[in-house]
Amino acid sequence: MIKAKRSHNCGELGKDLAGQQVVLCGWVAKRRDHGGLIFVDLRDRSGIVQVVADPDTAGASFKVAEDIRNEYVVKVAGKVCLRDEATVNNNIATGAIEIMAEEIEVLNAAKTPPFYIQDNIDTDENLRLKYRYLDLRRPEMQRNIILRHKVTKLMRDYLDNRNFLEIETPMLTKSTPEGARDYLVPSRVNPGKFYALPQSPQIFKQLLMVSGMERYFQIARCFRDEDLRADRQPEFTQLDMEMSFMEMDEILELMEGLIAYIFEGALGKKIATPFQRLTWDEAMDRYGSDKPDLRFGMELINMVDAVKDSDFKVFNQVIENGGVVKAINVKGYANIPRRECDGLVDFVGIYGAKGLAWMQIQEDGSVKSPIAKFFSEAHLANILAAAQAEAGDLIMFVADKPAVVAQALGALRIEMAKRRNLIDPDALAFAWVVDFPMFEYDEEENRYVAMHHPFTSPRDEDLPLLATDPGKVYAKAYDMVLNGTEIGGGSIRIHRRDVQKQIFSAIGLSDEEAQEKFGFMMNAFEYGAPPHGGLAFGLDRLIMIMAQRDSIRDVIAFPKTQSAACVMTQAPNDVDDKQLRELHIRPSLALKKDKEGK
Ligand code: AMO
Ligand code: AMP
Repeated sequence: MIKAKRSHNCGELGKDLAGQQVVLCGWVAKRRDHGGLIFVDLRDRSGIVQVVADPDTAGASFKVAEDIRNEYVVKVAGKVCLRDEATVNNNIATGAIEIMAEEIEVLNAAKTPPFYIQDNIDTDENLRLKYRYLDLRRPEMQRNIILRHKVTKLMRDYLDNRNFLEIETPMLTKSTPEGARDYLVPSRVNPGKFYALPQSPQIFKQLLMVSGMERYFQIARCFRDEDLRADRQPEFTQLDMEMSFMEMDEILELMEGLIAYIFEGALGKKIATPFQRLTWDEAMDRYGSDKPDLRFGMELINMVDAVKDSDFKVFNQVIENGGVVKAINVKGYANIPRRECDGLVDFVGIYGAKGLAWMQIQEDGSVKSPIAKFFSEAHLANILAAAQAEAGDLIMFVADKPAVVAQALGALRIEMAKRRNLIDPDALAFAWVVDFPMFEYDEEENRYVAMHHPFTSPRDEDLPLLATDPGKVYAKAYDMVLNGTEIGGGSIRIHRRDVQKQIFSAIGLSDEEAQEKFGFMMNAFEYGAPPHGGLAFGLDRLIMIMAQRDSIRDVIAFPKTQSAACVMTQAPNDVDDKQLRELHIRPSLALKKDKEGK
């Protein structure tokens, strides 16, 4: 047994320690037997160092070195030695030295792991998730988790320095309308009643402003039962903030400062502020998205003027019916084969477009297109001018209702940028999208719903429209966008009971329903609610981008799968009848039958 305590971390050892005795602890990353000598790569959180077991210096421990296997947990006592010039390994930080082992102790044995504990493994994600504790042992995953820690620490420092208070709000609470389904928790002591897990701390943070806390933040877990994607989890984390007596401009500036602070502190990257600001209308018009990826151009071009009065019925009809015709110009892409163009028709179809028209600009400047015949020379010249097209370009058109054109061409723009390699993976393109519409119309429910949330303040000048034309009301809402991802969103809030009531009524909540659901909040507004506003960053998404990953699952220690399950713990799982009875819950008949296999 090695009596001495661990003295150093593996990754921190360097030339300066040459000649020193050290005691290390860690996992065996690799073991090579070179006849007389055994080399062990020892790994801990800080990195890897090479340990050498020589029968002469290791003595009885040489036998231990012979028996250890990958992922054994070992303690090593030995001396730091400079490596020969020829054996220096520049691929690892500690490559100039090695440890001549004097004693090796196995602290615990390990089975052979189901995948290699190293970076860039090509392993099914479900297997990684099942053995997440091993997956998290891989250096790249450890880096992500360490980055996450650093970022939250920097966030706390930045906000603490600006007089924010970190305050916890309840997990067992009442539903907050952020637009997703709630996760419900039955109450044992209140038969038939349920708590909702918070979709965000929205209402509580506003109430904290009424309480005079003035500046609040929380690294808050949020729960949303919605369809999952690569950048969505059923439970995720927000850096949630709320401030009293601050206007939008002050809030945005403070948030830009926060972002610059964490990028500098965690990655050493300088971020230029202020960020570009786009109104929601402008973002939709130019990029077909409220979270535009500004790492490349290829903006949507309005073609209505250039194509009107042609012989092409499809476009004419769309324009007559109040729709639009827009296009993108994919530079140098004219020569793609016909069937690839057909594939793109299917692609835009996913977004509801009924078709995709294209024009290939040939070497001599002439236009090759199935629809060229419907256009005069003058039309074609106008189209090429609008698209700033040159030989070799491919112009692609979608004609439809504005929302469909935005969706389809917005998505096509991203797809084309990927194919044409227009996206610099190291670029960081920040922007604010401001002036969101207050409401969007929900066709299924036949009513307006709040686009951000119903506590968002309409613009002052739009207040009179609330009762007459809610669709035209814009909100004091803002999103922060980074590389085409919405990393944060917030708004200036309503702090007056009468305005809040108007909003509830515009989204179809009767006075009684509003009172029943949010009466406590509206009452609070009658006791001196200060003007206030705030924002929440999606911490997981922000870290995902900072770590240059494609999925937020890679930056969450224990994430759920696409079907909201945890393959390691098997949650969600069956519970026994006794537990259900205590909670006054009867499993539905259909489910029971299903389980019994009837
Ligand atoms: P919002 O709903 O826009 O605003 O959420 C804020 C940010 O949280 C992130 N986010 C998610 N991340 C991972 N998985 C999810 N399912 C998920 N849903 C949202 C996004 C988003 O920008 N209460 C308001 C904030 C406010 O008004 O202050 C809110 O929750 O990055
Ligand atoms: P059609 O006359 O329907 O055969 O269409 C002629 C061309 O116009 C085809 O290349 C279609 O893909 C294209 N097209 C049809 N509808 C649309 C639309 N809504 N937007 C853009 N192009 C379309």
